[in-house]
Amino acid sequence: MSRPVLGIESSCDETAAALVAADGRVISSEISSQVAIHHEFGGVVPELASRHHLLNIVPVVDQALARGSCALEDVAGIAVTAGPGLVGALLVGLQFAKALAWVSGRPLVGVDHLRAHLEAPFLRPADSPTAPVPTFPHVFLLVSGGHTVLGVRPSPEELQVLGATRDDAAGEAFDKVAKMLGLGYPGGQVIDQLARAGDPTAIRFPRAMLDRAGWDFSFSGLKTAVRQHLAQQGLPRGQALLADLCASFQEAVVDVLAIRAERAVAETGVRQLVVAGGVAANGRLRARLASAAEGGGFALHLPRPVYCTDNAAMVAFAGHRRLARGERDAFDLNAVASWSGRPT
Ligand code: KG4
Ligand code: ZN
Repeated sequence: MSRPVLGIESSCDETAAALVAADGRVISSEISSQVAIHHEFGGVVPELASRHHLLNIVPVVDQALARGSCALEDVAGIAVTAGPGLVGALLVGLQFAKALAWVSGRPLVGVDHLRAHLEAPFLRPADSPTAPVPTFPHVFLLVSGGHTVLGVRPSPEELQVLGATRDDAAGEAFDKVAKMLGLGYPGGQVIDQLARAGDPTAIRFPRAMLDRAGWDFSFSGLKTAVRQHLAQQGLPRGQALLADLCASFQEAVVDVLAIRAERAVAETGVRQLVVAGGVAANGRLRARLASAAEGGGFALHLPRPVYCTDNAAMVAFAGHRRLARGERDAFDLNAVASWSGRPT
């Protein structure tokens, strides 16, 4: 078997490490989440995130190597998220990866976090190693906490962006609405759960920009509509009304994402859709896209939910791609907070 890449991720509030083979097989994947720490603050507190990465990085990497029965000297390389993300958080993973590369003599490769999300559908989980993975070209929809991007990926290297959000990202809209409802941070998963018992047609929230040509998204108007609804009606009284509100809001986000993605498949003629990023874990979005793919006769690739949200397996696979091209980084590799809002 070819040597695995060790991936390290610390861009936000997950400290993660993974070993992934060149064919995408996940050998080990460890994730230490800080959600419980940031929950009470209603969002990620950057300094706390850095401090917890510092506490967790050694045991998490140690565990990933031990579970994969792999010595550091036996990896093909060490891939680490270099940005975008919280700089203090990124620096912990980056500096640790440099130290590992230095002592082991294995190559260091910095990875773009957004590109890493787009590699998640190529991962082959240990219990289904032969599951189909995407081919090229494909349409991609990247929906994370900070980014919403739709485009075409003609080859592993090229990304052609069709459109992106003009304001809030889809995940950010989930998080802000959850905060308004007093549901804590992060909001996506809790809204997803509550919405299951709700009526998605109970409240008609706006679907921005669907009537226009072009590919951009906007979610800040939807957030404002929820705020206005709450100002007029007050917080929902009882679980049933809360579920209706969550389902109605979620339906507005899902409608926009699904309709735009289906349109991209139809208009480009590229009959394969890849969806990635934390919001791709959303149950309603997954169901909606699955029925669209079945009805429309196109292939849909959705990573498992654990590979939609932040993880290091996707980072390791992105590292394989760079190493396969003969690339590696020098020890002056630095962290980048923001890379223009689009995958490089
Ligand atoms: O990709 P990710 O883990 O981190 C970033 O790179 O941003 O995405 C996190 C985002 C958060 O906004 C979170 O609320 C959202 O993904 N999210 C979800 C779900 N799980 C996570 N949104 C909707 N439904 C979910 N089940
Ligand atoms: Zn992410």
